[in-house]
Formats: sequence, C-alpha cells, structure tokens
Amino acid sequence: MLWSHISLLSVAVTTASAYLLIERREDLLDQYDYVIIGGGLSGLVVANRLTEDLATTVLVIEAGELDKHEDSIYVPGDVGATLGTSYDWQVPTVPQDVLVNGNITIPLGKVVGGSSALNGMLFHRGSPADYDLWEALGNEGWGWEGLLPYFIKSETFTPPSDELVSEFGITYDESVHGFNGSVHASYPPFIYNQTKNFIKAMNQLGVQTSNDQASSAVGVFYLPNSLNPITMTRSFTRPDDHDVAVERANYHLLAGNQVTKILTEDAVAYGVEYSAGSNQPRYIVNATVEVVVAAGAVHTPQLLQLSGIGPRTLLEELGVEVVSDLPGVGSNFQDHPSLIVPYSFTGLAFSPQNLTSNATLAAYYRELYNLSKTGPYTVSAGNALAFISTNSFTNKTSELVAEGRNQNETYLSPGADPGVTAGYKKQRDLLLDIWGSSDAATIEYSVGSAGPLVISLSHALSRGDIRASSLDPFSPPSVDWRAFENPLDMELMIDAFRAGRRLMQTPAMTELGAIEATTGNLTTDEQIVDYLKKTMSPSFSHVCCTSPMMPKEIGGVVDEELRVFGVSGLRVIDAGVVPVVPAAHLQATIYAVAEKAADLIKSSR
Ligand SMILES: Cc1cc2nc3c(=O)[nH]c(=O)nc-3n(C[C@H](O)[C@H](O)[C@H](O)COP(=O)(O)OP(=O)(O)OC[C@H]3O[C@@H](n4cnc5c(N)ncnc54)[C@H](O)[C@@H]3O)c2cc1C
Ligand SMILES: *[C@@H]1O[C@H](CO)[C@@H](O)[C@H](O)[C@H]1NC(C)=O
Ligand SMILES: *[C@@H]1O[C@H](CO)[C@@H](O)[C@H](O)[C@H]1NC(C)=O
Ligand SMILES: *[C@@H]1O[C@H](CO)[C@@H](O)[C@H](O)[C@H]1NC(C)=O
Ligand SMILES: *[C@@H]1O[C@H](CO)[C@@H](O)[C@H](O)[C@H]1NC(C)=O
Ligand SMILES: *[C@@H]1O[C@H](CO)[C@@H](O)[C@H](O)[C@H]1NC(C)=O
Ligand SMILES: *[C@@H]1O[C@H](CO)[C@@H](O)[C@H](O)[C@H]1NC(C)=O
Ligand SMILES: *[C@@H]1O[C@H](CO)[C@@H](O)[C@H](O)[C@H]1NC(C)=O
Ligand SMILES: *[C@@H]1O[C@H](CO)[C@@H](O)[C@H](O)[C@H]1NC(C)=O
Ligand SMILES: *[C@@H]1O[C@H](CO)[C@@H](O)[C@H](O)[C@H]1NC(C)=O
Ligand SMILES: *[C@@H]1O[C@H](CO)[C@@H](O)[C@H](O)[C@H]1NC(C)=O
Repeated sequence: MLWSHISLLSVAVTTASAYLLIERREDLLDQYDYVIIGGGLSGLVVANRLTEDLATTVLVIEAGELDKHEDSIYVPGDVGATLGTSYDWQVPTVPQDVLVNGNITIPLGKVVGGSSALNGMLFHRGSPADYDLWEALGNEGWGWEGLLPYFIKSETFTPPSDELVSEFGITYDESVHGFNGSVHASYPPFIYNQTKNFIKAMNQLGVQTSNDQASSAVGVFYLPNSLNPITMTRSFTRPDDHDVAVERANYHLLAGNQVTKILTEDAVAYGVEYSAGSNQPRYIVNATVEVVVAAGAVHTPQLLQLSGIGPRTLLEELGVEVVSDLPGVGSNFQDHPSLIVPYSFTGLAFSPQNLTSNATLAAYYRELYNLSKTGPYTVSAGNALAFISTNSFTNKTSELVAEGRNQNETYLSPGADPGVTAGYKKQRDLLLDIWGSSDAATIEYSVGSAGPLVISLSHALSRGDIRASSLDPFSPPSVDWRAFENPLDMELMIDAFRAGRRLMQTPAMTELGAIEATTGNLTTDEQIVDYLKKTMSPSFSHVCCTSPMMPKEIGGVVDEELRVFGVSGLRVIDAGVVPVVPAAHLQATIYAVAEKAADLIKSSR
C-alpha cells in the first residue's frame, strides 16, 4: 500500500514573502490549490497564468534543474549545444519494422522550461484546416476560430525591421498577431542571403509565398523565432513565465524532482507522490483543487499508466490497480517522420560553414554578437520553411486519397482497442480530406544555409504507442512510432523525395551550386524506398498526441476541457492532448493550447 513507502511531509509554515523559489522540499507547503507536473513549455505557461490571481497557490514539480544562464541555452547561434547533456532526457526508442535506423535516442528537455529550452526556436502556426480538424473530432471550441485568440494571447510579435523588409521582402499581417504574450516572436537582425534562393526556388516549383504563416500556413514563407528582440537570446518559458511567476508568493517550483505517481481516492485526484531519484525517498504533496499534468507527450502517458489510468490490459500486465480504464492513454502517438538529404553548395559567399571552418572568423562574429547583438550568432534554426499541399508536389493526389479511402486495414498495433480503432478511422477520413486539399499541407521542405535538404511528412497516417515498460517510474517507457506502418505514408514520401530533387534543380538552387551528395543515382521507386527506409528518422522532435482530446468512446483521454475521463480533479495540458499533429513545428501551437488550458482551468473553479 502506498503509505508504507512514503514519508509524509511535515507541515511546513512558509512565510509569504516574494522570491520564493523552492530549493528544498522542506520549504514546501503541505498542500496547494494546484500541483502542476512538469515545468516545461505548457506547465510554466499555465503556472504563470494561474498565479496572476494572488489567492491561488500553485506548485510546479520539475524533473530537471534550473539552468544557470548558459550560452548553450540562450545564444541562438549555439542552438543544439544542449542536446545530449544533463538537460536532455535522451529517451531511447524501440526498433521500427519499416525504418532500419528507427531505434534512436530522442532529445527532450529535462530542465526548467522543458523542450522550450532546447528547441530550434522556429516559431509558426499550422493552417486553419489543421485545427478545424481537431474540432471535427468532437472538440468544440478547438478549431481555428476558437484557437486564434490564444495564439494571439500567447505571443509578443515584433515585426521584421525595415532593413529585413526591403532586403528580403518579408511580409506580415498584424491583425493575427499578439503584442502582450509571454513568448517573443521576432526576426533576427541577420538572415543568410541564400534564404532568398530557397523562397525563389519554391516559387519556381510553382509554390506561392504566403503573406504570413500566422494566418496562411500553406506555401513558402519567412517565419520568426522564439527570440527576445532586446537581448537577442532564446525566448522560452524559464525567463518568460517562471521568472515572472517566481516574484509572486503564491508560486512555488521544486526542481530536480520527478513525480512518480498521481494519487487518487475514489477516482478523485488529490495529490502526487514525488522523489529526487530512484533510490531516494518518496514524498507526497496534496492538490486541493486539481492536479495538472504537463510532463510532455512521452512521460505523461507513462505516469498516467503507472497511476492506474490507461488501458486495462496493460495495467493488469504491469500489476497496477485500475483507477480509470482508458484504452487511449499512450495510443495515437504521432510525430513528423523526417529525411535529411545531404547537399553541398559550391557557390555560397557566406554560410554557417564559414564559422565552423574558420575559428578567427567565428571569434569575430561571436564578439560582434557579444557587443552589438547582431550577426550570424543571432540565427538559430533558420527563417524560411515551406509547407505544401499534396497537389503541389505530385499528380497522384486523387489516386492517393482514393487508396486511403479504400483501406480496409488500420495498421494500428495488434490488438488495438475497438474505440481507439474507431477514433483512428475518423482521423484518417479527416486527414484524407487534408491530403486532397489545397488549403492544407502534407509535406514540409527546408534547406539549411549550408545544406542539407530536409523533407518531413506533416500528416502521416501511421500511429504508434507509448507504454510503461515496468513499474519503475525512473526507467523510460517503450516509445514506438510504428512509422510508415501505413504504406500510404511511404507512397506520399516517394513523390515528396522526387519533388525535393526538382527543388534542388531549380535555377535559384543551381545558382548556389547545389550538389546532391549521395542520392543522384536513385531512380526507380524501389531504389528510393530502399534509401528512405535506410535513412529516414521517425521523428522531427514533435512528439505528441498520446493523451488525445476526443470523445471517450473513440479512444479519447481528455474531454474538450482537458479533463481526464473517469478521474475528477485531473487534467492533461501538454502536447499529448493534441489529437492530430498540425503541419507545423509544434511550439507555437502548444503555447496556444496552454493559454486556452489556463482559461479553462480558471473558469471551472
Ligand atoms: C530538440 C527539439 C527541437 C525542437 N525544435 C522545435 C522548433 O524549432 N520549433 C517548434 O515549434 N518546436 C520545436 N520543438 C517542439 C517543442 O519544443 C515541444 O513541442 C514543446 O516544448 C512541448 O511542450 P510540452 O509542455 O508538451 O513538453 P515539454 O516542454 O517537453 O515539457 C515537459 C516537462 O515535463 C518534465 N517532466 C517529465 N516527466 C516528469 C515527471 N514525472 N515529473 C516532473 N517533471 C517531469 C520534463 O522534464 C519537461 O521539463 C522541439 C523539441 C525538441 C525536443
Ligand atoms: C537499435 O537496435 C539494434 C538492434 O536491436 C542495436 O544493435 C542498436 O544498438 C540499437 N540502436 C540504438 C541507438 O539503440
Ligand atoms: C499585458 O498582460 C499583462 C498580463 O500578462 C496584463 O497585466 C496587462 O494588463 C496587459 N497589458 C495590456 C496593454 O493589455
Ligand atoms: C548579402 O547580400 C547583400 C546584397 O544583396 C550584401 O550587401 C551583403 O553583404 C550580403 N551578405 C553577406 C553576409 O554576404
Ligand atoms: C492529503 O490528502 C489525503 C486524501 O484526502 C489525506 O488523507 C491526507 O491527510 C492529506 N495530506 C496532507 C498532508 O494534507
Ligand atoms: C566562406 O567560405 C566559402 C567557401 O569556402 C568561401 O568561398 C568564402 O569566401 C567564405 N566567406 C568568408 C566571408 O570568409
Ligand atoms: C578566416 O577569416 C579571417 C577573417 O575574415 C580571414 O582573414 C582569413 O583569411 C580566413 N581564413 C581562411 C583559411 O579562410
Ligand atoms: C562572448 O561572451 C561569452 C560569455 O557570454 C564569452 O564566454 C565569450 O568568450 C565571448 N566571446 C568573445 C569572442 O568575445
Ligand atoms: C504533372 O502533370 C503536368 C501536366 O501534365 C506535368 O507538366 C508535370 O510534369 C507533372 N508533374 C509530375 C510531378 O509528374
Ligand atoms: C483489403 O485491401 C487489400 C488491398 O488494399 C486487398 O488485397 C484485400 O483483399 C482487402 N481485404 C478485404 C477483406 O477486403
Ligand atoms: C548510389 O551511389 C552510392 C555511392 O555514391 C552507393 O553507395 C549506392 O549504393 C548507390 N545506390 C544505388 C541504388 O545504386
């Protein structure tokens, strides 16, 4: 029984003074109105909003530590430097049937700020159709109309400078942007000149330039970054939300501690059990109003399952007492499978390669950044992307859609629950509408400032699973994308690959001297498939959808107010609640979801 291995907290009386960052467990209150599990992107946005009401007490428990203002996190040009460090969970994943190198280690933020501290800083939205699909799955208020106010609320947009506008022709639509949110969306003062060639190359392929991705995300476009335009450092939830909330006496954050169980009594969540490590004591803290789960799409389903909330068959296998039999927990796992095609360029005047190959030049630009916050070190993962509709890269759109409509198999994992299967079929029907539409994207392209070409599948039909693999909350769950199990995903990818080659052969790209390093000899479908199977990754760091917001009968885990079915006082608010991944890098969407979650939590009190 759980009490036997828990040392109960002694009642700590904490004086209400400002700057109450909790560094010691002993300083916690014994109960809070809300306990938020995970101080990542979604958790800190919600904690910041909830503590705006000074009468509301909130505790955030975060597995990772507070950063120490390292350049590796804050300097845009150092993006990627934290991967593989102690700020990264480095989650192992299981071998894939289709992709040869599908078992990889994926990065995920384990630090205050979560993955917002590690990500590539690309900041943009999906198309209205992507969110309308969520609403069509039975989630009233979660379509484009319902979410737009939250996209606006979440951001502080700074338009591109006059110089960028005249040099690159960047356009934007102020009416769909926000100017008082916690995360900054701004452009670096420096953009590599070859970015123009990418935009032009897409135009030469017949793809239109979008006026602003924020309202029209299909086409090729310049996009901002999550970049603080004053300090020219990463904008993320540690400085933007945690550092704001920590000045309020009603906000506590305990870092370096992992929640090991959500505590329930008669299907009411009343608190959490947590610990600093697998051989450390476990403690509990109560939540008198709600427990809010924001541990991310990989760890949330594992934690729910270990707390008795999940598929009965799995819980029984693990020996966990069933609190709520929810077959959807850990199902519906999605990401953006991605391909990196190596290209090199012979005609670049200046690229990131100049910095890696010439230490003198790198030091010069680094000093420029230090002194004036300009130059290439203000650049993170780039400022141009293309998200294009199926009919703009293949003539087989109607053929592919018809094939999808005739599929009599779901390609879900063996023994998939009937409700989960029904939900998947509904998703597939709606996704095939998107595959056939000109107003939604199915493929993403980008070209790095020194290569490579990156192609990513935006609306895959395949679905994976995340399952706790043991009773130990400190050992990673089994992470299985089942990428390309649905053969239609590969058919789409073959044509996307061919279109990528046409892109690199446009005049705008040949001007840069693009050279296809290894794939020039691939011609037949079989050769291409063989190459894709050997080289593709199942991930683009966009894990999501494993606690899907959908009706319970079709495999949903949370309702349209993000409340977990069958347990009261419990919500999930992280990337897991997204029912279908949008055609976009995820963060701007998760900021909007978190803002809406905060409003739902406040209004139901
Ligand atoms: C390497 C990388 C690059 C990316 N690049 C981009 C990009 O350029 N643009 C973009 O739009 N998106 C990008 N993303 C995606 C984006 O950052 C995520 O979608 C987003 O951060 C998800 O928010 P979240 O709140 O669901 O999870 P997270 O931000 O990951 O937060 C989850 C938090 O919960 C904590 N946690 C987990 N389990 C527990 C537990 N049991 N107890 C306590 N705490 C726990 C974690 O440590 C973490 O801090 C990237 C992601 C990664 C990993
Ligand atoms: C992937 O699986 C293969 C075979 O099971 C194994 O040899 C390899 O080490 C694994 N790779 C990773 C990164 O886990
Ligand atoms: C900006 O947002 C803050 C809360 O984050 C609020 O207090 C303030 O009134 C807002 N300002 C404007 C001009 O809307
Ligand atoms: C980019 O091109 C402009 C001319 O359009 C030129 O003035 C500038 O020096 C170039 N920048 C770099 C870094 O090469
Ligand atoms: C926490 O809540 C549980 C269940 O209501 C209760 O038994 C326990 O005494 C509470 N603990 C504290 C420290 O308030
Ligand atoms: C960058 O590298 C390229 C290729 O080596 C070279 O032609 C160019 O002159 C370099 N540019 C600068 C500014 O050093
Ligand atoms: C490196 O950059 C410096 C400064 O621009 C330049 O003087 C030098 O020639 C470069 N070295 C090489 C090998 O290109
Ligand atoms: C720039 O500043 C960092 C500290 O933020 C320092 O470590 C680095 O040495 C500086 N680099 C140069 C070239 O001035
Ligand atoms: C699609 O059809 C058009 C018109 O027949 C043709 O010009 C084009 O090359 C075709 N595209 C592809 C990718 O086959
Ligand atoms: C299912 O579809 C496949 C091909 O799409 C076909 O070969 C098979 O006969 C179908 N099975 C049934 C039961 O209809
Ligand atoms: C294509 O060429 C590369 C070397 O450039 C070789 O490794 C590969 O096997 C070739 N692939 C095919 C399908 O011929």
